[in-house]
Amino acid sequence: MTTATSPQAFWLAGRPATGDDTLEVTSPWDGRTVGTASVPTPEQTEEAVAAAAAVADEFAATPAYVRAAALDHVVRRLGERAEEIARLISAENGKPMKWARIEVARCTSVFRWAADEARRFNGGTAQRLDADAGGAGRLALTRRIPYGPVLGIAPFNFPLNLCAHKVAPALAAGAPIILKPAPATPLSALLLGELLAETELPAGSWSVLPVPNEAMPPLVQDPRLPIISFTGSVPVGWSIRDSVPRKRVTLELGGNGAAIVLADYASDADLDWAAQRIATFSNYQGGQSCISVQRVIADTAVYDRLLPRLISAVESLVTGDPADDATDVGPLVSEDAARRVESWVEEATAAGAKVLTGGRRQGASYQPTVLEGVPHDAKVACEEVFGPVLSVTRVDGEEAAFAAANDSVFGLQAGLFTHDLQAAFRAHRALEVGGVIVGDVPSYRADQMPYGGVKASGVGREGVRFAMEDYTYERVMVLTGLQL
Ligand code: SIN
Repeated sequence: MTTATSPQAFWLAGRPATGDDTLEVTSPWDGRTVGTASVPTPEQTEEAVAAAAAVADEFAATPAYVRAAALDHVVRRLGERAEEIARLISAENGKPMKWARIEVARCTSVFRWAADEARRFNGGTAQRLDADAGGAGRLALTRRIPYGPVLGIAPFNFPLNLCAHKVAPALAAGAPIILKPAPATPLSALLLGELLAETELPAGSWSVLPVPNEAMPPLVQDPRLPIISFTGSVPVGWSIRDSVPRKRVTLELGGNGAAIVLADYASDADLDWAAQRIATFSNYQGGQSCISVQRVIADTAVYDRLLPRLISAVESLVTGDPADDATDVGPLVSEDAARRVESWVEEATAAGAKVLTGGRRQGASYQPTVLEGVPHDAKVACEEVFGPVLSVTRVDGEEAAFAAANDSVFGLQAGLFTHDLQAAFRAHRALEVGGVIVGDVPSYRADQMPYGGVKASGVGREGVRFAMEDYTYERVMVLTGLQL
């Protein structure tokens, strides 16, 4: 779509550039134009990939202090421009300001971790090989080498921080990156490019290109981009991986996060805490997080006391304008997204589910909703809602709770409300997920910890150091004839 307003330049090999076309970014809240982003031509995209490939060896050899200094610079500038960036995230994504501020703070933390990891990521282990006679006088040294330039594909739901999770580890590890932001929310990524452009990073080591989705297949296939790190929808993610079986592809896909409340979590304070955390994190960002709470699985011993607390906590969330500091829940990313959620709730209620609160759509906004008696095969139970809709289920005992949580094609994170340490260990063993959060919701994520799923939820791990490991391989050198 072409507009008359002056478009935001994209970043081609570290410098600003404009293409022939533009992308209009509108606010999901009121439909106003937030900005326009220039779209690269195929030739410009080719130029960025060629520059990334050309600089790869030089960049891998860049001293750690140079890469760390650039990452530190981004940390400083994010701090200085935090409020402005939060407003941009909120405007283009519809995320309430309180969550947008948290996203900027998390992005700062990602870059800070990346600067630290850049300094200590040398892969330099030494191994004596003389445990066998054939290895006498021999020593193995390893270092980590980037596979090559990374293609990072980011989603709309964290327009800044999920870009940071692609870019910061790549730069820390010395791997060039081509970042492709989501078409609905490219402006935060382009602003991140502004901060990177203030650094001394070599030309070609990074580009931010709002390439339209339909123009992505050649980039995905391009052999000069051996690593793909994708966060987004399940079908797109797996189809990328299936289309390039020889590439290293990390997928951070969907989930239908379960919060399990066990029988021992029974005091008034326990249930107040569980209800408040579940209510908040089934609705934060309109439920548009892969680890938002979608399913509550509560032991029958606590169910009847948890439910009214949960409904009351959900009803006390403030909905409305995301620019307002008081707002907890804003719109979804588009009216289409809200209509899809509406149709899924209708499907569940037609099949017997009861709406305990919520259940109404207005434009792109969907009311925070709690459902009970949802049939097992309803989409709101077995698929990823990506909206503010929660299903509650009563179970009898821990084993049934774990089985219900595992009864999903997804396996991203689970929350477990219990004080029983042994139950926590049993859950850690039994739950088929990438992370078990004890005493809190599945939505907890610290940006330095390993994050990712099993089953349909994906493959590989983010978390700064873990992504750096994904982007690099160990190369061993054996020294011989040594007096060890
Ligand atoms: C996601 O939605 O995949 C990311 C969640 C997060 O970073 O908190």
